[in-house]
Parts: sequence; structure tokens; C-alpha cells
Amino acid sequence: MREQLEEIRKMAEKELSAADSASAVESIRLKYLGKKGELTAVLRGMGALPPEERPVIGQIANETRQDITEKIDTVFLKIEQRERNAGFLAEAVDVTMPGKRLNIGHTHPLSIVMNEMKDIFTGLGYEIAEGPEIEYVYYNFDALNISKDHPSRDYQDTFYINDRVLLRTQTSPVQIRVMEEREPPIKIICPGRVYRADEVDATHSPVFHQVEGLFVDKGITMGDLAGTLRLFAAGIFGGQTKIRLRPHNFPFTEPSAEVDVSCWTCGGKGCRVCKGEGWIEILGAGMVHPKVLAVCGIDPEIYSGFAFGIGVERTAMCKFNIDDMRLLYENDIRFLRQF
Ligand code: PHE
Repeated sequence: MREQLEEIRKMAEKELSAADSASAVESIRLKYLGKKGELTAVLRGMGALPPEERPVIGQIANETRQDITEKIDTVFLKIEQRERNAGFLAEAVDVTMPGKRLNIGHTHPLSIVMNEMKDIFTGLGYEIAEGPEIEYVYYNFDALNISKDHPSRDYQDTFYINDRVLLRTQTSPVQIRVMEEREPPIKIICPGRVYRADEVDATHSPVFHQVEGLFVDKGITMGDLAGTLRLFAAGIFGGQTKIRLRPHNFPFTEPSAEVDVSCWTCGGKGCRVCKGEGWIEILGAGMVHPKVLAVCGIDPEIYSGFAFGIGVERTAMCKFNIDDMRLLYENDIRFLRQF
């Protein structure tokens, strides 16, 4: 039996030295020390020994078990350590490798211009006001003194949701909402998206953006409007830019004007960009019609005000020399990156 035990110890040792994974060690443990293991089988046979030999063999058997257990633990630890190290190696990051270049976004030219406009006007003391894009016909047309038969009300020009509700065609309704709610002085700009049933082409889109402005207080004059627009034009197109007001007609302003800026390319001499004119039309403006003030509960005998409406797409196209509006919506990164 002694030899048998010695044999088991040697065999276990030999197998352990060849074991190369935690699961291999575990099966060796079962094979030798488990309930159905070889050592257990030997110990079961102890009953057949003469009584005086039992304690001796018992001791040897215990030593063998302890010996094998210790060896298993040692080998197991080694394997565990090796596996962990292999894991670390596999996860290792080579900090000396060149980095991946991340594509960072770029402010869209429309946002650039929109932000510049907001900066210019907030710098002049204007607050930013917002309103719904799905608007009542009342706010978009009636309150703005736009007659029932005005062509812009046409079903072919405007997206109606029903008889009373439409997609706003301008951000002027925001001005009505603010005037209804507040007492002058009112000094706001209304930036936002507007909708018209236009076919898409180089200068039209059914969705575009406006920044409209409104200043109502005592003693506001056309001179204030001109001065404000001159500062705006200088801020967007450069300090040398001059403006020119031409008489026009809008239902919600009286008098009304179309506003041109001196050509930023030739400075007014006439060139390809301004088609030889020296001037380029960029916005509409005027003194708020007394009827519009009155409808909002503001007494036109006491207060006056000016309003203007700027197309953001048009301004961006002018400022950046973009000749097709569709480019602004295609989100081609090669185009956007240029601004
Ligand atoms: N609301 C006008 C438009 O969309 C622009 C405008 C605003 C003109 C204010 C004059 C005064 O065409």
C-alpha cells in the first residue's frame, strides 16, 4: 500500500507539471482527491490492513493528500497568474500609437449667419422672442393687416392645416403675440423657420429662415430704423457697407421700404456679383402700421415703431457667395467645411 500511495503521489505530480489550464488542474484534483478519486479508493482499502499498520499507512496517506493538495494549489496559482497576465497583455493600449483623427462637426453657414445676427441685435439691446411654427391664420395674416384677398393668403402660396391654422409664412406673428402681451418699450428679434409653398430652385425653398425685428416705443422714427439697419449691414458685410432704402409696400408697415446694401465685392462700382447695380437687396422694413399697433392694444397716437424682416438664407448666400440655396440643405460636408 505504501508503494501504491507513493505511485499516486508521483503520478499526480507528473500530471500536474504538464497541466496548462485551470480546468486541467481541476480534473487532476478530482482524479486523485475527489470522492471517487484514486487516493480515496486506497484509503477505503485500509480496513483490510492489520491493525498495527493502519496508523502508519493512515499517516502516509494523509501526507500524500496534503502533498498533492499543496502542489495543486501552487500550480493553480501559477496558471491563474499567467492567465491574468495574458488578459492584461491582450487589453494593453499602446499609447505611442498615432491617434485616430475624429471628425468634429462644423457650424452650418445658416447658423453662423443666424448667430451673427443674434449677436448684432442683442448687442443693440434686442431680446430674442420665439413663437409657434404652426400658427393661427389670425396672427399670420389678419392681425398684420393683410387683406382677405391678398395673394400671399392663397392656398397655392401657403400651407394650411385647416381654415384657421397654417404653417407660418413669416415670423411677424411672433411680434403680434409679443405686442399683445407687453407694454412698450418692446425691442425684439424673432428668429425662426418659416414655410411657403414654393418650388425648390436655386433661390427658393418651401422651408427657410427669417430674423424679424421690432422696436416700439415713444418717438421711434424711420431714422432709427435706418441707423439700426446700417449697423446690421456693417456687422454682417463689413464696416464700409452702406444701405439704401427704396419705397415699397407691405400691408403691416407704412411707410415701407426695401433695403439694399452696397455691393461687398465692388463697394458699389458695379460688378458681376451685383449684376452691375452696385447694390444688392437684402431685406424688407418699415414703420409699423398704426392699425397693427391698435389691434395689439398699443395706442398709435402715443407709440410708434419700426419692423424689419431679414431672410437668413439670402443673407448667408450673399455673405458667403453661395449661388444655389439647395447647397445649404444638402449637408455635404465638403461644402459645409468651407465656411
Ligand atoms: N414679413 C415680411 C416678409 O416675410 C418681411 C418684413 C418684416 C417686411 C417687417 C417689413 C417689415 O416678407
